[in-house]
Amino acid sequence: MWDYSEKVLDLFYNPVNQGAIEDGNEPDVAVVFGEVGSIACGDALRLHLKVQVSKDQILDARFQTFGCTSAIASSSALTEIIKGKTLDEALNINNHDIAEYLGGLPEAKMHCSVMGQEALEAAIYKYRGIEVEHHDEDDEGTLLCKCFGVTENKVRRFILENDLQTVEQVTNYIKAGGGCGSCLAGIEDVLIEVQKEAADSVRVAASVALKQEAAATAVAEAPVRTLTTLQKITLIQQVIDEEIRPVLIADGGDVELHDVDGDRVLVKLTGACNGCASSGDTVKYAIAAQLRDRVLPTLTVEAI
Ligand code: FES
Repeated sequence: MWDYSEKVLDLFYNPVNQGAIEDGNEPDVAVVFGEVGSIACGDALRLHLKVQVSKDQILDARFQTFGCTSAIASSSALTEIIKGKTLDEALNINNHDIAEYLGGLPEAKMHCSVMGQEALEAAIYKYRGIEVEHHDEDDEGTLLCKCFGVTENKVRRFILENDLQTVEQVTNYIKAGGGCGSCLAGIEDVLIEVQKEAADSVRVAASVALKQEAAATAVAEAPVRTLTTLQKITLIQQVIDEEIRPVLIADGGDVELHDVDGDRVLVKLTGACNGCASSGDTVKYAIAAQLRDRVLPTLTVEAI
């Protein structure tokens, strides 16, 4: 006996939004359905949406399913969750949202919530005139499980999105491996590969974080430069004369040191720099940045 939540049992005994939506040819309203699964596999779901075209919003949602307790409860939950949402908002609903609404699902039944998510995508893609009813990337690549038509890409995506750790979990989520079993070794290979890639990326991220931390510590622990007032003024004058003025003079301007009051440096712009529209930038980037870099990081510069 599966350990179902009260919500699952309630929606199984009293399903909501069951049935189809007839197209009443109402203005500004479109009716569409999306379908996943097949009766041959035991589970099938058809999700009907009534959409207000001008607002791209789901007015009503109903379902028809050939499925078990969890499929009926998941479909009821899905229709309740998406009513009133825009289509873009609905596309953000995933199988975990459905399971959460139900107070959890037995892991062996997670594929029922996945079926709901996929039927929703199929309906919205169809409404938007997109031919493919599944993730493009899922349909490409090697067919791994022939019994359930599941590609390697889809197995990989579900392992990553749901942090799946075992082949059994893969079967629980997307049924792959749940038929003849001849694909189980292949699923295990993909699982090992994805787990190795994830471990490598964690190692790289940890190493980058350590390097950043070491760099930040080095900056924080760098000795603070101390200068006497005379040394400070002399150094400021030297940097202005040797590194800043030649650049300004080349542009027809010039600068002279007017005073130094603590860390406050007062300069006087002359020549083309005096009254120039970009004089603020000259002070900020050409003079202040250079003096902070070459003399003291605490200096501020003002033009008088
Ligand atoms: S090929 Fe996957 S279960 Fe048969």
